[in-house]
Amino acid sequence: MPGFYNEINVFTGNSNPKLAKDVCEYINLPLGRAEIFEFSNENIFCKINESVRENDVFVIQSLSTPVNRSIMELLIMIDALKRASAGRITAVLPYFAYGRTDKKDQPRVPITSRLLADMITVAGANRVLTVDLHAGQIEGFFNIPVDHLTAVHILADYFVAKQLTNPVVVSTDLGNAKRARNFAELLNCPLALIEKRRTGNDDRTSVLNLIGTVKGHQAVLIDDEIDTGGSMVQAAQRVADEGVTEIYAACIHGILSGPAIERLKKSPIQELVITDSVPLTQAKQIPNIKVLTVARLLGECIMRVHAGASVGALFHPGSSNFSS
Ligand code: R5P
Repeated sequence: MPGFYNEINVFTGNSNPKLAKDVCEYINLPLGRAEIFEFSNENIFCKINESVRENDVFVIQSLSTPVNRSIMELLIMIDALKRASAGRITAVLPYFAYGRTDKKDQPRVPITSRLLADMITVAGANRVLTVDLHAGQIEGFFNIPVDHLTAVHILADYFVAKQLTNPVVVSTDLGNAKRARNFAELLNCPLALIEKRRTGNDDRTSVLNLIGTVKGHQAVLIDDEIDTGGSMVQAAQRVADEGVTEIYAACIHGILSGPAIERLKKSPIQELVITDSVPLTQAKQIPNIKVLTVARLLGECIMRVHAGASVGALFHPGSSNFSS
């Protein structure tokens, strides 16, 4: 298929280099040569070490820990690429930070995800490719095209292969209900919902209500992200108290900050399944966490964007989605 730009270049910042390497392997391309580092005064510097003139350039950067540094790296790389006359720049964001600050739901609070969208655009990105935004409407914060991918089917394929005999999908909160419904459809099983209410602006949550039947089932809890683990572990406890037979947990973005690992270790969750949209550092690797890759999903999408081919077709049931 003919592309509209010259060659593809794929660069990465420092936040998720392993995923960037795996994406390049999928599309059979060497990772672009660039240096990006911090001076002792914490100023970040970037140098692109190959020509990108009129090329179709993709910058892969998860906006994960250290979050604000990852954001600055992304913006600075985009600026460098723009000044190097790249033909088109796509910010590939396997994880988009600040997604939970997406509305003015109290007086005098920011909408930081909108601010971040503006910053990425002003830096010079022409397109964005991202995975499971916390809220779909964040896509509309950008005035440039956004390909918003989902990795739910990657999680679902894993659980289907497990051949659970009597599963029920449980959404850890109402805001996540649509994602959970799609997941339950893929697992061909019923859905239950937990109504969760946050008790303040910090990370404390309280589980209030369980809607649906879980007793006697294998519960598969799903959320878009696990941050401190509070929501997921409380949800797990809630369904354990209802008499489920087994508890699995799944999320796209395993942030696993602060007390998350300790909480998970003490929880009744027997296996947690996440993706590599955010890297799982050595310190967070415990035996019952399974990591699935989004490299093929991103690689396929990058090739389609470059070729001007449909990205939506990737998600049509029955389509043979990926190259082998
Ligand atoms: C919130 O609305 C999200 O869907 C997740 O439930 C939340 O990010 C999880 O945070 P934590 O793990 O700190 O409870």
